[in-house]
Amino acid sequence: MSETTELAVVILAAGQGTRMRSRLPKVLHAVGGQPLVGHVLDTAAGLDPARIVVVVRHERDLVSSAVLDMAPDVRIVDQDDIPGTGRAVQVALAELGDFAGDVLVLSADVPLLETATLADLLAAHRAGGAAATLLSARVADPTGYGRIIRAGDGSVQRIVEQKDASAEEASVTEINVGVYVFQAPALRTHLELVGTANAQGERYLTDVIGLLRDSRESVAATEAPDASAALGVNDRVQLSEAGRILNARTVRRWQLAGVTVLDPATTWIDVTATLAPDVTVLPNTHILRATTVATGAVIGPDTSLVDCEVGEDATVTRTDATLSVIGAQATVGPFSYLRPGTYLGTRGKIGTFVETKNSTIGDGSKVPHLSYIGDTTIGERVNLGAGAITANYDDLVKHRTEIGDEVHTGSHNVFVAPVRIGDGAKTGAGAVVRKDVPPGALALSVAPQRNIDGWVETNRSGTRAAEAAARARAAQEAGHGSQE
Ligand code: UD1
Ligand code: CA
Repeated sequence: MSETTELAVVILAAGQGTRMRSRLPKVLHAVGGQPLVGHVLDTAAGLDPARIVVVVRHERDLVSSAVLDMAPDVRIVDQDDIPGTGRAVQVALAELGDFAGDVLVLSADVPLLETATLADLLAAHRAGGAAATLLSARVADPTGYGRIIRAGDGSVQRIVEQKDASAEEASVTEINVGVYVFQAPALRTHLELVGTANAQGERYLTDVIGLLRDSRESVAATEAPDASAALGVNDRVQLSEAGRILNARTVRRWQLAGVTVLDPATTWIDVTATLAPDVTVLPNTHILRATTVATGAVIGPDTSLVDCEVGEDATVTRTDATLSVIGAQATVGPFSYLRPGTYLGTRGKIGTFVETKNSTIGDGSKVPHLSYIGDTTIGERVNLGAGAITANYDDLVKHRTEIGDEVHTGSHNVFVAPVRIGDGAKTGAGAVVRKDVPPGALALSVAPQRNIDGWVETNRSGTRAAEAAARARAAQEAGHGSQE
């Protein structure tokens, strides 16, 4: 029979999350690059349930649109103004109609549970045939959690909330994780009986456990294998703790998959990022969102990659990059800033104090030092001299700079867009390139140098510069040229 029992998952996400003291609803705060409720949706989806219902109320539009973005097939149910987790489950059940299978209730603020733990809970529930099976955890500090009160024979009797607990009850270290499986009919009838005679004046879901016992239904508990995964996020201290636990898990997963991570404590990898074997991640590095890193690449130290694609054997050092593609064997950094739309080709280079945006830098091309490259297309095997600036903005609109293949430019050039530099062209130092440069031409825009002799002694007499110049002139006139 157990194989044919249908499963519905109810995710509770209607609470305000007052203790976060935030404009953002609690369940939309993120750890590991994903909102709390997103982690719970992923874990639930792993069970392949017949239906998933998410209960919303506080900021319901924000929460429901985020949920539907992540999981378009879930059903959103609105809680009314009767407060409490029991009421939330009641409105979800109403949405499920005459559903008679198992109902797995999850809290959207308990983000770290793994699908395997829920699958074990479900299996235990089905094997034991209890009306309800809850997930428990033994924790060092149970403050804030509901405590599991067991009878003399060790069976689960009821759950008492922190605010309603006697001193003796509060000393119990076995807590309610906020995750339970119920037989739908038993849940439905007993939710009807839940009152609000408690410290918070709410309809507690947890009261269903005691009520089931009162009517001689059996209640079982399964202990979570890893108590740290039971963490509930109610404030920002717990939010960072959840983030740290999740990150440690993610880093370990990549290490076991062949990634060298020198310092897990200062390496942050979102659950949405992907790293190949033989990638090396150096300390203080953030690999975020949909970033992918190919084999052999070395990232860090002090690097942040957001939605980037890094090719094989590339090196990215002390760099901040977003929505950029870094080619195979390319080198980036130290101190580079890659803004969205940067494409760096194979064996290309973006070097020290270089900012790029919306630009393609072709295979083997280099922008090594002190440059701003925006709205630019650079061909292959180009070298831009130190201090290249693309003036892409004329105060009204942005224009493109197009640089062909095999171009070498002098130091400290300004390319005033729109402008094209033909294949194989060169530019002189300090050039301000306002007109197109034909292929193979040398562009010079700086006037020939003119020295006005004696200018300092005439115009700055009495200064130390003038005195130094006078001494040098005297020495020269005496036939002892002091210049090297
Ligand atoms: C709840 C449990 C507690 C358990 C803890 C585990 C109850 C009464 N208490 O306490 O035993 O140890 O979780 O983390 O259930 N929610 C709604 N509608 C509401 C109120 C809450 O959907 O009216 C949602 C919240 O958005 C949240 C979840 O239910 O995702 C839990 O609510 P919260 O207020 O955080 O309960 P806790 O005090 O943590
Ligand atoms: Ca909570």
